[in-house]
Amino acid sequence: MVFAASQSTASRSAAHPIPPPGELPGAIRALARERNAVILAHYYQDDAIQDVADFIGDSLELARKAASTDADVIVFCGVHFMAETAKILNPTKTVLLPDLAAGCSLADACPADAFAAFRAEHPEHFAVSYINCSAAVKAQSDLICTSSNAVDLVKQLPADRPILFGPDENLGRWVQAQSGRTLTLWPGSCQVHVAFSEQALLQLKLEHPEAEVLAHPECQQHLLDLADFIGSTSKLLHRAEESDAASFIVLTEPGILHQMRLKVPHKQFFEVPGADGCSCNACPYMRLNTLEKLWQCLDRMAPEIVMEEEVRLKALAPIERMLAMSR
Ligand code: 13P
Ligand code: SF4
Repeated sequence: MVFAASQSTASRSAAHPIPPPGELPGAIRALARERNAVILAHYYQDDAIQDVADFIGDSLELARKAASTDADVIVFCGVHFMAETAKILNPTKTVLLPDLAAGCSLADACPADAFAAFRAEHPEHFAVSYINCSAAVKAQSDLICTSSNAVDLVKQLPADRPILFGPDENLGRWVQAQSGRTLTLWPGSCQVHVAFSEQALLQLKLEHPEAEVLAHPECQQHLLDLADFIGSTSKLLHRAEESDAASFIVLTEPGILHQMRLKVPHKQFFEVPGADGCSCNACPYMRLNTLEKLWQCLDRMAPEIVMEEEVRLKALAPIERMLAMSR
């Protein structure tokens, strides 16, 4: 998916030369102060971006932070649907994404017109959409969820109402098993979480039999069956802190290992490679953001997230419902 560049040029300033690498973190902090900008980063960002951010979190925590900030500018170090969510919640603020090409295979797997046809086929269903979707899909949904609150939210829905769940069928299957509700699933998946090698996981378990296996629910069922603990990125991080285990095999994007190692430096963490030992366990979209692009977007006040007001208002209702229903 290619996202349109912002047409809003009023707030842009002339581009300045990028500071040398060693000075970038300090220069980013100074520029963020000057712009009254808050830097929000997802756990899948590069270590250097996490280190310079004001706040690091999972999708739910970042949405909550975006809803409560009093900064004038939100710089979203994550992917496009996350920055869009921040804009939906903050129409008067400037929301920047360091690289506009930072998309998501799940959002791409669910085009708005195809989702409209899916809804039309199931007119009496309640549509629960994972936050990893476009604003245009959110605008057609009844409720948004994240990997952190999906089970709890689905359990709160009336027992006699049939439910559509999209766009991640792996998360949907897990939510179905945890909630006891039958869900009609949209057939999408995360290209990163379906790439983990089962053979490599089994080998790691053989080498480290004492290690706990932590998995994100976007993983496929056969890998979730081998996990000791399943949860959102924040929940995996808390589990690593609270568990008695001294070592962990982590089935999610390896960006999360940075915070795990910072929080519990005495524990050991192993990432699982993609099939054939490839490095496709790193999200290619998340990793498009760099310190240089972060500095540049603050300098130029672009690329900025822009959205039609009609779509924003329709997408806001199911997000606000999620925030109200989340405990
Ligand atoms: P979280 O809900 O854990 O932040 O996950 C977001 C995501 O994109 C996982 O691939
Ligand atoms: Fe999307 Fe997967 Fe990347 Fe998360 S890890 S942003 S779900 S492609």
